[in-house]
Amino acid sequence: MKYILAIESSCDDTSCSIIDSNFCVLSNVIASQEVHKVYGGVVPELASRAHQQNIIPVVDKALKDANISKHQLSAVAFTRGPGLMGSLLVGVSFAKSFARALNIPLIDVNHLEAHVLAHFIKDTPQQKVPEFPFLCLLVSGGNTQIVLLESPRKMQVIGKTIDDAAGETIDKAAKILSLPYPGGPHIDRLAKEGNPVLSFSQSHIKGYDYSFSGLKTSILYTLRDKLKENPSYMEENLKDIAASVQKAVVDSLLKKFEKAMKDFKIKTIAVAGGVSANSELRTRLQQLGDKYSCEVFIPKFSYTTDNAAMVAAAGLFKYMDKDFAHIGLTAYAR
Ligand code: KG4
Repeated sequence: MKYILAIESSCDDTSCSIIDSNFCVLSNVIASQEVHKVYGGVVPELASRAHQQNIIPVVDKALKDANISKHQLSAVAFTRGPGLMGSLLVGVSFAKSFARALNIPLIDVNHLEAHVLAHFIKDTPQQKVPEFPFLCLLVSGGNTQIVLLESPRKMQVIGKTIDDAAGETIDKAAKILSLPYPGGPHIDRLAKEGNPVLSFSQSHIKGYDYSFSGLKTSILYTLRDKLKENPSYMEENLKDIAASVQKAVVDSLLKKFEKAMKDFKIKTIAVAGGVSANSELRTRLQQLGDKYSCEVFIPKFSYTTDNAAMVAAAGLFKYMDKDFAHIGLTAYAR
């Protein structure tokens, strides 16, 4: 049996995971950084310092949870980018030193590809994984993409946002509503008890690309006008506003995705990234799959946000191709 240890440190979560050569997860440890909460967003300088503090204990725990020795490892995978440079450098430097000390191969992984390949992580050997080709909607805080996969190593971004990401749009709306950062989970929670009574103007661009800047402005202007009429409008209508924002974002995401599904005659669909934790998006993607008799893959909540198990899965595919990284490589932010 082969074992891959993976490190993820692209933003504000320090994570280490070990998977075996059947893609089964033996451990997936995540240390989240609470320090950013008071600032309403991730502070890069603080994030890299916290990664420095967390990385050794997190790796140590991942080895203990997996119940294997570091000498049994076959390779070390790590997130090379994109992400915050100071955060990435901690993981890259650790991975290089660890692989060199153990004299085992080093594997660099693209963070976005790892999110998409999270669907191959197995909690049990029998777990079903997507068949190719499949179409994945990748929605995180900073990225919104439609990715077409012909094989694990052959993926093509067929659509992407030309301005803001879906997660950013939800977070911005949450900020206007004075909700804590990140706003996505709060919008989701409030929307469950609200009705989407407000309609916002949406961007209409051709093809599979997205644009959320118009929607963001429309949310801002609509709420500003409502506040002029009633200064307590936001407090009195919080749940309905949340439901309206959530519906507008999900409508926009799925309109393009459905078009791509039809055009590429896809039979397997999936969603990945932090925003894939959203309950309306999960429900409506399943409904879309039912409408076109597609198989639908929705990740477990723990694999929607940043985690090293997805980096290990992406790393294992590269390991099988003997596609190893050079010790001299560096991280990339974009
Ligand atoms: O992939 P991710 O963990 O990290 C980055 O891209 O950095 O995504 C984070 C994003 C944030 O915008 C957050 O508000 C959003 O995912 N998010 C959600 C939910 N949970 C997290 N958005 C909507 N509904 C949720 N339940």
